[in-house]
Amino acid sequence: MKTRITELFGIQHPIMQGGMHFVGFAPLAAAVSNAGGLGVITGLTQRTAKDLANEIAKCNDLTDKPFGVNLTFLPTVSSPDYPGYIKAIVEGGVRIVETAGRSPEAYMPILKEHGIKVVHKCTSVRHALKAQKIGCDAVSVDGFECGGHPGEDDIPNMILLPRAADELEIPFLASGGMADARSLVASLAMGADGMNMGTRFIATQEAPVHENVKKAIVAASELDTRLVMRPLRNTERVLNNPAVEKILQKEAELGKNLKFEDIINEVAGVYPRIMMEGDMDAGAWSCGMVAGLINDIPTCKELIDRIMSEAEQLIRKRLMGFL
Ligand SMILES: Cc1cc2nc3c(=O)[nH]c(=O)nc-3n(C[C@H](O)[C@H](O)[C@H](O)COP(=O)(O)O)c2cc1C
Repeated sequence: MKTRITELFGIQHPIMQGGMHFVGFAPLAAAVSNAGGLGVITGLTQRTAKDLANEIAKCNDLTDKPFGVNLTFLPTVSSPDYPGYIKAIVEGGVRIVETAGRSPEAYMPILKEHGIKVVHKCTSVRHALKAQKIGCDAVSVDGFECGGHPGEDDIPNMILLPRAADELEIPFLASGGMADARSLVASLAMGADGMNMGTRFIATQEAPVHENVKKAIVAASELDTRLVMRPLRNTERVLNNPAVEKILQKEAELGKNLKFEDIINEVAGVYPRIMMEGDMDAGAWSCGMVAGLINDIPTCKELIDRIMSEAEQLIRKRLMGFL
């Protein structure tokens, strides 16, 4: 399949793996890229720029296909060394950066100077237009369904994607709630040039996370996610568990007076315990509603091959059959 996204990134299939904290390590990024998609290393999971440089080197050893690095500009407890990370990206020969959280405007000149393609992930048409204006090559449009941070507008992809298609000139990926061939064909029908998946890629053989995480995703239904941190305007969609119930209880009790410190034990620094040790109740961790569509743990290649062959069947048989 050839779209503006496959052309832009130089990849075989219009499928991207979004940056994921403590999931997007070299083995997953390389597996997705080797399967013909675009794998992404999560920059901020690496504690220092030197660690990121090492992770990029590992990925370069595992694949000769293009891969990207995610740079997330979110309110974090301590400010990361973004210039150092960008230096590691440039020196590691990475050609694609996925930005998220805030506008990447401040870093556009240096990224462009080195010929790096920038795909900005955003949750609204206005932010997508801003990204286009500041020179991003593509955007990833993350609907309300998504795992992680859906923003504060709560617009699901059935509305958000056609709205983005109406307004944007640069290519975009549909993100949030994407799992299979139906997701891809629907995204293309709504004007996207590809799709970005997060949660689906965690439940793969190569995702370097504890088996408990994969099993939790397979066991979860579309009813099992919750939105936390809404009172802080830093909404996150997470899988429900006792820690999440605790956060929601504190949010209900404290209302507008809620401060980050009130929930710090449930949200800060919990990812290593969940993703590496499989302590599933250690805190809140991002997960999309799409968990309801995930029933197996294939290799990345099996997953991507299945999506592409079923997409072809869907288009040729089901859709053409209606005409
Ligand atoms: C466990 C997890 C961690 C994530 N961490 C990040 C992150 O650090 N930076 C980022 O830009 N997006 C992050 N995301 C969002 C994904 O890149 C992607 O946009 C999202 O998962 C798409 O929705 P889906 O899960 O329904 O596919 C994360 C998602 C998950 C599930």
